[in-house]
Amino acid sequence: MILVTGGTGTIGSSTVKALQAKGARVRVGSRSPDKLKGQGVEAVLFDWEKSETFGPALQGVEKVFLLTPVSDKQTQYTQALVDAAKKAGVKHIVKLSVVGVDAEPGIYLGRLHRSSEKAIKDSGIAWTMLRPTFFMENFINYYGADPKKDSTVYAAHGQGKASWVDGRDVGEVAAAVLTGKGHEGKAYELTGPEALDSVEVLTILGEVFGHKYTYVPIPEEAAKKAMTDMHMPASIVDGMAELAALIRNGWSAGLATGVKDVLGRPPRSFKDYAKDYAAGKI
Ligand SMILES: NC(=O)c1ccc[n+]([C@@H]2O[C@H](COP(=O)([O-])OP(=O)(O)OC[C@H]3O[C@@H](n4cnc5c(N)ncnc54)[C@H](OP(=O)(O)O)[C@@H]3O)[C@@H](O)[C@H]2O)c1
Repeated sequence: MILVTGGTGTIGSSTVKALQAKGARVRVGSRSPDKLKGQGVEAVLFDWEKSETFGPALQGVEKVFLLTPVSDKQTQYTQALVDAAKKAGVKHIVKLSVVGVDAEPGIYLGRLHRSSEKAIKDSGIAWTMLRPTFFMENFINYYGADPKKDSTVYAAHGQGKASWVDGRDVGEVAAAVLTGKGHEGKAYELTGPEALDSVEVLTILGEVFGHKYTYVPIPEEAAKKAMTDMHMPASIVDGMAELAALIRNGWSAGLATGVKDVLGRPPRSFKDYAKDYAAGKI
């Protein structure tokens, strides 16, 4: 049995789908297990804020896909789950981390992933770290590119390029690692096949979706104000601003071989992602 945390989100749902395709036994941990009814998957109440939900969720579980939401508390969450996993006899934890986690001094959100990785490594449980770059899905999920209509994306990405990865590739890598052999003690950096700037991405989405997408680069302060106005905590606003700065400065443009190393095929391109989205396959 494999417990997938964050299994209703972008990467977790891709992981669940890929595990189901392999015929693996999967249990999804969610604050709202009812919303998974009728989806052919076992669901269990799981809340990072309520560690009493960890024991029942881990019953009979051999492996865990560990995905924490973006939170100041992610290291505490991870440590608490690691402690419960040890008690439950879990054999392998696969953590969704982030590329550049070892960078010194790095960025705030990267350091949280680094200390979470350390909590897992120190546990004595076998581990694998998945370290993806920015997700292609961010354009639709967060940046304001609406697949159904013309739209404008305001971001502090400047003209910087990033090596966007398709969340399905991350999920398929996770499933392969969770069901395969020889991945213990390894960290995989996961990127797409090419580095693209925001205009290049929006040109691809525009061609495939048949809409006009405009990119408006905005100053960091304007991006921070918009996030503050959305009542995001100050630490996360600053963390998000650091992420945008990584793109602006071209520090997220590196390509890695993790997808090919694990899956034996190249990563999907942004065009592949857009076409599959338009065809309703995502
Ligand atoms: N976006 C990027 O470009 C990017 C790049 C690299 C790494 N990352 C990392 O990816 C992770 C986010 O992954 P994602 O984008 O797939 O997530 P997501 O789509 O935002 O989904 C968040 C998931 O976390 C669950 N969740 C939220 N709060 C919870 C709580 N209190 N207790 C239990 N579950 C909770 C939600 O489940 P329920 O609502 O069902 O409970 C949901 O399944 C973060 O760790 C981030 O640092 C992101």
